[in-house]
Amino acid sequence: MSTPALADLYPAHLDVLQARAAEALRRSGHDHLVIPSGTVHYQVFDDRDYPFAVNPQFKAWLPLTQAPGSWLVITPGVRPKLVFLQPHDYWHVVPTLPQGYWVEHFDIIVIRTADEAARHLPADPARCAILGEPQSALGAYVPNNPAPVLHYLDYHRAFKTPYEIALMRAANRIGVRAHRAAERAFRAGASEFGIHLAYCQAAGQDANDLPYSNIIALNEHAAVLHYTQRDRLPPRPLRSFLIDAGADCSGYAADITRTYSAQDDDFAALIQAVDQVQQALCDLVRPGVDYPWLHLEAHRRLAAVLRDFDVIRLDPEEALQRGVSRVFFPHGIGHGIGLQVHDVGGFAASDAGGTLAKPEGHPYLRLTRTLAPGMVVTIEPGLYFIDMLLEDLKARGLEDTVNWARVAQFRPYGGIRIEDDVVCTEDTPINLTREAFADLH
Ligand code: GLY
Ligand code: MN
Repeated sequence: MSTPALADLYPAHLDVLQARAAEALRRSGHDHLVIPSGTVHYQVFDDRDYPFAVNPQFKAWLPLTQAPGSWLVITPGVRPKLVFLQPHDYWHVVPTLPQGYWVEHFDIIVIRTADEAARHLPADPARCAILGEPQSALGAYVPNNPAPVLHYLDYHRAFKTPYEIALMRAANRIGVRAHRAAERAFRAGASEFGIHLAYCQAAGQDANDLPYSNIIALNEHAAVLHYTQRDRLPPRPLRSFLIDAGADCSGYAADITRTYSAQDDDFAALIQAVDQVQQALCDLVRPGVDYPWLHLEAHRRLAAVLRDFDVIRLDPEEALQRGVSRVFFPHGIGHGIGLQVHDVGGFAASDAGGTLAKPEGHPYLRLTRTLAPGMVVTIEPGLYFIDMLLEDLKARGLEDTVNWARVAQFRPYGGIRIEDDVVCTEDTPINLTREAFADLH
């Protein structure tokens, strides 16, 4: 992503955020939006700090992810103000002075100690909607997180600006480059840990820079949905590889999953079948589509794959209704993505609050809204062979619905997940992940 392109897109992004802030403040009756970037957290009874995690409400406004102790002040009709902490410190690298396409849009005040920020915040804290964690409190400036403000901002954050989509496209390009390196490492016989290092190297991002912990799973480990252990030695024989790994670009996330078989075998054919389902589901990311319906549709289509591969012996609709499909596909079809890999506002009924319920029996779905242009969602169907859930199916008296010989054949491969990041538009969806894979060939 070239800087001029971001420079062109950024002013309109800021206009959108300012309009949203003005309406949110009107609803809560405050005059200013005040957003601390966050503070460094320490391990209990220790002086070791955790990796800094910036307040997402802060990084929505500007591409600063490593600036603890800074503050934003947004007042409708006034240029936004950044109070930027650049401490005198010879122990650590201090944040460099702000630079780039966005600085000309802010009044920037540099402070040297965290306490100095208070002097540059609006005079009356009671007139401020302060969005942040309790640890960010500075004197009377205590985060109050007014519900009307959060409801409004979180709901609208689902609709990405062209600037945000450009950053998510760039994050996908970084992630895809690293996925290619990881696949090469797998084919060369690397361990989970070795593949992880190859991934980070190719992404140019350390584990703490990534938007979530890499899931790098060989063989049976692919059956653990959030497997983050990373064995130091490769298993023998090497059968399968599931990688769920993303990348960051200026605070925006990519979330990408691929699955590979070491051989051209039945498991490779099963991966191909899931891939076809996944691409068909991506094409359904269209305005007006109810995301829970898409989730249930994924169940039907995955159940059809299981039936076609003689893993289950009942019709897709029956597999869904009797809770057989959820044994093999036990997570949601996806989630909103953006500033957070699992973006906020997934269940928001409106910008004034309220919750859209999940379908009964599907507790892990993270998005229940109706799709609309500008939303970016992941589409991540999967099929897994998970002992605990298979035992549970037996306990429910459904043993006869499954071909156990076929399960035994696939179980050593763990499972399959394929995940892309997809933009809903007025028309054909934009698949940021497939676009990046295609461009890399
Ligand atoms: N990438 C991990 C997840 O979406 O849960
Ligand atoms: Mn995901």
